[in-house]
Amino acid sequence: MTTVSTFRHFDELQPWNDRHDLLECIAATEETADVMTFTFRSDRDNWFRYLPGQFVTLELPVSENEPVFRTYTLSSTPSRPFSVSVTVKAQATSIGTRWMFDNLRPGMKLKAFGPLGDFSFVRHPGEKYLFISGGSGITPMMSMIRWMADCTPQADVAFISCARTPDDLLFKTELECLAAQMPKLSLGFIVKNHNPRDGWHGLRGRIDAARLSLLTPDFRERTVFCCGPEPFMRGVRDMLKVCGFNMDRYHEESFQPAAAPAAEELAVRAGPGETDADAVATVTFTMAGKDAKCPPGQTILQTARAIGVRIGAACEGGLCGTCRIMKVSGEVDMRHNGGILDEEIEEGYILACCSQPIGDVSIEA
Ligand code: FES
Repeated sequence: MTTVSTFRHFDELQPWNDRHDLLECIAATEETADVMTFTFRSDRDNWFRYLPGQFVTLELPVSENEPVFRTYTLSSTPSRPFSVSVTVKAQATSIGTRWMFDNLRPGMKLKAFGPLGDFSFVRHPGEKYLFISGGSGITPMMSMIRWMADCTPQADVAFISCARTPDDLLFKTELECLAAQMPKLSLGFIVKNHNPRDGWHGLRGRIDAARLSLLTPDFRERTVFCCGPEPFMRGVRDMLKVCGFNMDRYHEESFQPAAAPAAEELAVRAGPGETDADAVATVTFTMAGKDAKCPPGQTILQTARAIGVRIGAACEGGLCGTCRIMKVSGEVDMRHNGGILDEEIEEGYILACCSQPIGDVSIEA
């Protein structure tokens, strides 16, 4: 457990490194009946370096033999770098999140991967912003607005949060406090259902062009960040398109994997004489001491699974970084989606889920 005796100054610490450090849970806080915030520190007293809006992948020991991997956007801000938080909702069918609700408590340690991700105003800067979230999609927006409140309180942000009922609106009180400190932060809350006893006097229904214009008349001039369930984001996209919004300034949190290259395309990229569409590469897994044939179109991860070599994988789309492994020799075609850093590629790491061999390769797994 963390105590004040662990205190060290910032300049004595290192940045958190997911290869060496674990996350130690330091708080589990109930936000609503089905939403909790889990806060972590580094088990080696390190600090966290990330962009507001990025995500982490947690390795959850749900069962003894087979951990599950779950990716969550961070709700914390890197301007407070000694801890990170995820705010998670337990759906009726959830396995990993339900495990966290029932088991994850201060003192427990988890392996994690990241932080990673492109969904940040740092990557897509604008003059002024519109954040639109549905339900627990508010978490990356909280990370960004908390950073802005700490570091650029003059930021011009229209913040719209949509939820099922007034009780499901996350962080409403905190947002109202931030709006008192940030002169250009405007808040809009929309709830789908309400009960006369809720005392709700705000907007009701779903977000549409009329409600958006009412809350943010200048929305066409803003850079938009949207996060929520896919049908919610689709609705926002369609609404903005119909309103003539320039979609170049629209960004959403998406965990869609990058398309894998076709075998014929791989052959073309490898060049004449180097391979052909029927070529079968050999993948050697040095730690397991096993070889396997990998036909065109198959990834290193699929090849590993076929012969029982275990490589952890959460998104299987080149996003989360969970399947990062060291390539010892050979070449691969990697189509990642932001799940690996340029420095890691230079060091020789690849993501197994989105890498296909170009000729024989050896992998440290
Ligand atoms: S499993 Fe997520 S990047 Fe490979």
